[in-house]
Amino acid sequence: MTRNLFYQRDVISNNALTREDVEAVLAHTRTCKNNKTGQTLNGRLIASCFFEPSTRTRLSFESAAQRLGAGVTGFSSMESLSLQKGENLQDTIQMISQYADLIVIRHSAEGAARLAAEVADIPVINAGDGANQHPTQALTDIFTIEESQKRLDGLSMALMGDLKYGRAIHSLTEICSLYDIRLYLVAPESLALPELLCNRLKKRGVRFSFHQSIEEVLRQVDVLYLTRTQYERHENPVITRQGGVGILHPDLLKNVRPNLKILHPLPRLDELPRTIDATPHACYFQQAKNGLYVRQALLDMILNESCP
Ligand code: NCD
Repeated sequence: MTRNLFYQRDVISNNALTREDVEAVLAHTRTCKNNKTGQTLNGRLIASCFFEPSTRTRLSFESAAQRLGAGVTGFSSMESLSLQKGENLQDTIQMISQYADLIVIRHSAEGAARLAAEVADIPVINAGDGANQHPTQALTDIFTIEESQKRLDGLSMALMGDLKYGRAIHSLTEICSLYDIRLYLVAPESLALPELLCNRLKKRGVRFSFHQSIEEVLRQVDVLYLTRTQYERHENPVITRQGGVGILHPDLLKNVRPNLKILHPLPRLDELPRTIDATPHACYFQQAKNGLYVRQALLDMILNESCP
């Protein structure tokens, strides 16, 4: 039997993942998607702690837990919490870790998930910390890319949008750097990928280049990963609203590679027109569905030593 690489492990940042880790998650996700897991989390309790708004991430985590037989406790906003009375995050997390078997946390502060992992006695999964990381979204993305392209090595991928504040993008670049994936970074200068992440890509020998417009690269890529502008994290949203991330006009899809798949973590603003939904290139609803299976795989691997 192969060793379970995720047993009792925190999932905070994809920088810590190896290719072997990612392959293990992809393999167990395939098992979950084929409905081959059963009620492996019977009697377990997952704390779903969302200090920041969420639709897909929270609901897919909670559905994943319940489909595996686990119970779910938690909250989806800060309103009902003692934090409102001045309690700090550490005390809140320490308390929750006495009640549950695993914590899923989303928070607006960068580093909040790492802090939670330091004080909790149970595993912690980062479901998004500010503009920093969103590791489970990127695992969902890479699973969807492999599923739709039948390979990862040798692909060309454009990342378009708010590369500066998009945490899903940050986590995805870290996973891409474990594979032979050529990256085209498409963003206005004000929303470019942070230097720290560019340096990590360089260090790992990833081929990447910067572009201002998607038209420059769209015909050369197998995957287009698009994100919205993260206005809520901008210092001056009025100025960035004028800059924008651009719009993927459906006309641009003429003469693209037939295998081109468009991914988007959602929610979308106007960068991804609804008319694209009916094209064979749209892959974002499949991607959102896969979030359930990836999260099932992770919960199962973290909580069951004998898994997969
Ligand atoms: C992303 C997030 O919350 O970072 N959404 C998601 O989890 N599916 C992307 C976004 O909010 O733009």
